Amino acid sequence: MNPSPNILCIESSCDDTSIAVTMLHKVKSNIVSSQLEHQKYGGVVPEIASREHIKQIIPLIDLALSEAQLTSEQIDAIAFTQGPGLMGSLLVGVCTAKALAQGWGVPMIPVDHLQAHVYSAFMDLDEEMPDQFLSLVVSGGHTSLYLQEETELKLIGKTRDDAAGEAFDKIGKMLGLPYPAGIEIDTLATQGDSKAFAFPIAKIPDYDYSFSGLKTAVLYFLQKQTPDFISQNLADICASIQYTIVETLVRKLQKALDDTSQTIVVLGGGVSNNSYLRSRVTEICQERGIRCILPKPSLTTDNAAMLGLIAYRKFIQGEFGDFSVTPYARAQH
Ligand code: KG4
Ligand code: ZN
Repeated sequence: MNPSPNILCIESSCDDTSIAVTMLHKVKSNIVSSQLEHQKYGGVVPEIASREHIKQIIPLIDLALSEAQLTSEQIDAIAFTQGPGLMGSLLVGVCTAKALAQGWGVPMIPVDHLQAHVYSAFMDLDEEMPDQFLSLVVSGGHTSLYLQEETELKLIGKTRDDAAGEAFDKIGKMLGLPYPAGIEIDTLATQGDSKAFAFPIAKIPDYDYSFSGLKTAVLYFLQKQTPDFISQNLADICASIQYTIVETLVRKLQKALDDTSQTIVVLGGGVSNNSYLRSRVTEICQERGIRCILPKPSLTTDNAAMLGLIAYRKFIQGEFGDFSVTPYARAQH
């Protein structure tokens, strides 16, 4: 068995088709094709997503191989996202992985999408993954707090309704911003005052989150304003919303740090690209004298390279999938 396998990774859980080639924790190529077709609907249309994956996936595999300067004969395994995600989208990745594994005579490695977000911060990092850390995964579909202890990844908190990214996107839609709105709100917020408008921070027990109340509060707030209010106050509204979402996230993170005495915090998922979240978490870790590991921005939103580290670990353990493997739509833990 090759101790430094070249792994072709496939990610197709939602509306980004992505193919990467990784070796150990190194990213040799990582191509992401985001589907712009959904923008006019203000959200992802599952049927369109599956059809776009079918169009994109084979050309992207060729591109990822050529960017990694490898041929298919040099690939030792195929890793793919098994779930959670949109069933039709996942099926395209799973079926492609099966076909390539059969055709190239290499094993298949199923990877959980949320675990991939957790471990994305360790890709392209020049050090071993620590045995213990606290991980906050914040994306368009999930907001979860994990505790990694030895080899076990334990879910300790999650959202009870909307995900943080979903809150950014749905509120962005109310403000007339294009989908996905997270990055737009982040950019506009840099020109605004985060204390201009006060929105509620949900008080949920333990380490769980809730963002649906914020969405409703913003809706009612906007309904009470004049027609020009949004255009005249856009930067301040964005800064205030971003502040509320990030404070909601970091309060639970701080509670978990108080309760668990962990000394490393890791972020993952599309929202971990948010500049204010990154600076708040860095500041909190500095104040506590603990480490903060942030994924490279290119590894935050859905991408295939984030599968690399788990896939490598499974390869070494011989944990392969067989041809009966099927995708799952809902989170497994
Ligand atoms: O991880 P991801 O690509 O997909 C899921 O697995 O859901 O995350 C996409 C989410 C979207 O909701 C998008 O608005 C959000 O990440 N996002 C951001 C930023 N960049 C992406 N949210 C806030 N600030 C950003 N800079
Ligand atoms: Zn994701």
